Amino acid sequence: MAELAGRPFIDLDSRIEARFGASVTRIFAEQGEPAFRRAEAEELRGLLGASDPAPVIALGGGCLMSRELRLEAIDRAVVVSLLVTPEEVARRVGQDTSRPNLAGDPLQRALQLLELRGPAYAEAHQRIDTTSVSAEKVAEEALAVWRRDPLAVAAGEASYSVEIGNGIAPQRVVAACGAARSLLLVSDQNVAPLHAGPLTSLLTQSGMQLARIDFVAGEQHKNLASIERVLEAALAAGLDRKSYFLALGGGVTSDMTGFAAASYLRGVSWVGLPTTLLAMVDASVGGKTGVDLGPAKNAVGAFWQPTTVLCDGDYLKTEPERGYASALSEVVKTAIIGDPELFELLEREAAGIAARSPQLLTEIVRRSIRVKARVVSADPREGGLRAVLNLGHTVGHALEAQAGYARLTHGEAISLGLVAALSIGKSLGHTPPELLVRVRGLLERLGLATAVEREPLAEAAALIGHDKKRVGSRVSFVFARALGDVCILPLGLAELRELTGGLQATS
Ligand SMILES: NC(=O)c1ccc[n+]([C@@H]2O[C@H](COP(=O)([O-])OP(=O)(O)OC[C@H]3O[C@@H](n4cnc5c(N)ncnc54)[C@H](O)[C@@H]3O)[C@@H](O)[C@H]2O)c1
Ligand SMILES: [Zn+2]
Repeated sequence: MAELAGRPFIDLDSRIEARFGASVTRIFAEQGEPAFRRAEAEELRGLLGASDPAPVIALGGGCLMSRELRLEAIDRAVVVSLLVTPEEVARRVGQDTSRPNLAGDPLQRALQLLELRGPAYAEAHQRIDTTSVSAEKVAEEALAVWRRDPLAVAAGEASYSVEIGNGIAPQRVVAACGAARSLLLVSDQNVAPLHAGPLTSLLTQSGMQLARIDFVAGEQHKNLASIERVLEAALAAGLDRKSYFLALGGGVTSDMTGFAAASYLRGVSWVGLPTTLLAMVDASVGGKTGVDLGPAKNAVGAFWQPTTVLCDGDYLKTEPERGYASALSEVVKTAIIGDPELFELLEREAAGIAARSPQLLTEIVRRSIRVKARVVSADPREGGLRAVLNLGHTVGHALEAQAGYARLTHGEAISLGLVAALSIGKSLGHTPPELLVRVRGLLERLGLATAVEREPLAEAAALIGHDKKRVGSRVSFVFARALGDVCILPLGLAELRELTGGLQATS
């Protein structure tokens, strides 16, 4: 692969052997496996940091068993897992006794190791079965993955990759459907006429049987009745457990398609083709799917990961302005949480971003997804850390609810909510005043509302804590201490309501 790509090649085991002046077998025997693993992690971290041009690195099969190191690797490199059957492992090892982890009965050991390591090997950008494939073919396939430069969302066996680029949906949609022979394309009546055509021709030409359903656009249709229609369409088309659902549309479409996919025949695969900035930067990562139940937003749903997400910047050309601009507040939020460079890029290129420059768009989508993927991968089921993504949402949700989910879009409410969160952080001494000024300035330059002091704060304050983030009389509030540095601290509900009610002009 390195030869094909014209890149340096590094074999991690050889590096460690050179470092210890001993073979892997001897290091295992004399120093023990933990010492070997420590050295391995140290070497790999060094390589992930500096490398221009980026090398191809061959890792031993146990190297990424530490989840912490694995998440670092998928965040900072493209990771491809080369898989084989246990029988093939035994055949390839033969009489070779230099592999300490396969000593004894190689077939039995391979069976055990593969069982143990399977979920970890799945947390990669791609898994490639090498059992009866030539080394050249494997190298070409791995190289193609590297060239596409996807992002990976680590979720055990349900891990998947997100590909980002202009024009990639038509290029990649057929491959994204894997071995499926039948599909259901779900879209809405605004998006389908604009973007479904090229995809349907490509999929049909490739021999797939394609059914389609376009529901009436809008959050008010994100309900169980729509789900029932999607499921009925799937059944009518005779889709089976190997079929795929495809979600072509905004967050409403992906939430519904993902949920329908989670329940159809107890779970089928689905591919995300997000067409709004919000669906790309927010809904495409995290595995949350579902619908509203009357006034209760997202009250019914499931965690169900897509198998691939294709973020095609071309789709954003037709997104209505208000939704696009609103979603930029989530991008700003993400930048504050985990990517100071993204924040600077937004400041520097605010005009180009407002004008939807294709290059800038793919850059901000990529960076936003990368931050969210990092957070979600570390906390797949919302145990704690993931709550940092609620920055700006405690007051934001209250403002959105106060406005009856009508006057303000979610993103507009979050823009105001960010100003509120940083102001509250400032008054409690967690947020430096300059950071508030800077965030507010950026939101304004991106055309977002920031005048939180002009909102009906007393009424909104009374609604804080009505969402699901409350624990007793305290709220887990996300504070920003600096760009890339946020923390979650408990805050008394009464105090928070008082602080919100008293928010004043801030800059
Ligand atoms: N699952 C998650 O993690 C997650 C995260 C964030 C938001 N969401 C959900 O996403 C939804 C909001 O998403 P949204 O803002 O994308 O809304 P949306 O799906 O309703 O799309 C907004 C509008 O734009 C139209 N549209 C979409 N793409 C278009 C395009 N390319 N060209 C022309 N028109 C286009 C749609 O038809 C719709 O009218 C909410 O229901 C929210 O709960 C989910
Ligand atoms: Zn949000």
